[in-house]
Amino acid sequence: MRAPGSRVLPLLLLAFGGAAGAADFVGPDSCKGCHPEAYEAWMQSKHARAENSLSEQQKKDGRCLSCHSPDQAAQATASVTCETCHGGGQYYSPEYVMKDPELSRLVGLVDPSEKQCRTCHDASSPSLRPFDFKESLKAIDHWSAERARRAARADASSSTQAPPPASTKK
Ligand code: HEC
Ligand code: HEC
Ligand code: HEC
Ligand code: HEC
Repeated sequence: MRAPGSRVLPLLLLAFGGAAGAADFVGPDSCKGCHPEAYEAWMQSKHARAENSLSEQQKKDGRCLSCHSPDQAAQATASVTCETCHGGGQYYSPEYVMKDPELSRLVGLVDPSEKQCRTCHDASSPSLRPFDFKESLKAIDHWSAERARRAARADASSSTQAPPPASTKK
């Protein structure tokens, strides 16, 4: 347990009071200001409107909410939101944390996995075809534009520096 980020762990444990990972949701509007491209793309997706597929009756039914709006009861955040996939943002959304990939993950940022998708996209969902992770990822792409902007910004701010050799990236 000697990861470079480990020196912050004692502090974090204090902050969490032992409930590491149980960060509160801040809501998609809180992510919007810093991730406008991701937000716009998500807004176009069915995830952002998943709650609207339910009738008034079904919106009170935990059996439907568990996939269509899983965080609603605890967090007052409807539908399948940023934080349903990326984890509650209370501790990672401050900018200085976000800029530190290691720290942000220590305080709750999740890299969404295929397994996570499949908790909702399982055999019981009313899909005509079985869930195909790679195809589905393309359909929810909200990161390409985001990464393009980031790359452009990095280019602009370090145009005098040579880019790092490709071999340093895995
Ligand atoms: C104050 C600005 C700010 C807010 C608010 C914010 N972010 Fe970020 N986020 C950043 C910055 C800066 C980065 C680092 C990458 C970059 O420079 O664009 C980042 C990176 C990320 C990454 C990639 C992390 C990595 O290391 O691969 C994800 C995923 C992410 N944010 C999701 C979210 C979500 C979800 C929310 C809302 C709960 C959110 N962010 C709120 C500024 C912010
Ligand atoms: C919390 C549950 C949940 C998780 C986790 C989840 N989804 Fe979904 N997803 C849904 C629901 C519910 C819908 C249907 C929304 C609607 O139309 O009401 C949906 C719809 C979709 C659609 C649109 C399907 C169509 O017919 O157009 C795609 C694509 C998709 N999800 C991909 C993913 C991927 C990829 C992941 C993982 C990274 C993922 N989902 C994770 C619940 C979830
Ligand atoms: C295990 C997770 C899960 C549960 C529980 C669940 N759904 Fe869904 N539902 C999904 C997913 C995933 C989709 C999207 C399927 C696809 O197109 O790939 C979906 C799609 C739908 C759609 C179609 C939306 C559209 O755009 O055509 C309706 C309507 C719907 N669900 C209603 C319900 C109702 C009503 C309940 C409760 C009785 C419920 N669902 C429970 C996962 C779930
Ligand atoms: C259904 C799950 C899901 C939802 C909802 C979702 N994301 Fe993502 N997000 C992902 C996945 C999966 C990736 C990584 C895709 C890849 O690396 O191929 C990702 C990537 C990102 C990235 C880029 C990270 C990087 O390394 O460059 C950012 C930023 C981000 N998401 C922010 C958001 C924000 C903001 C929202 C809400 C407005 C949101 N996401 C909603 C699943 C989701």
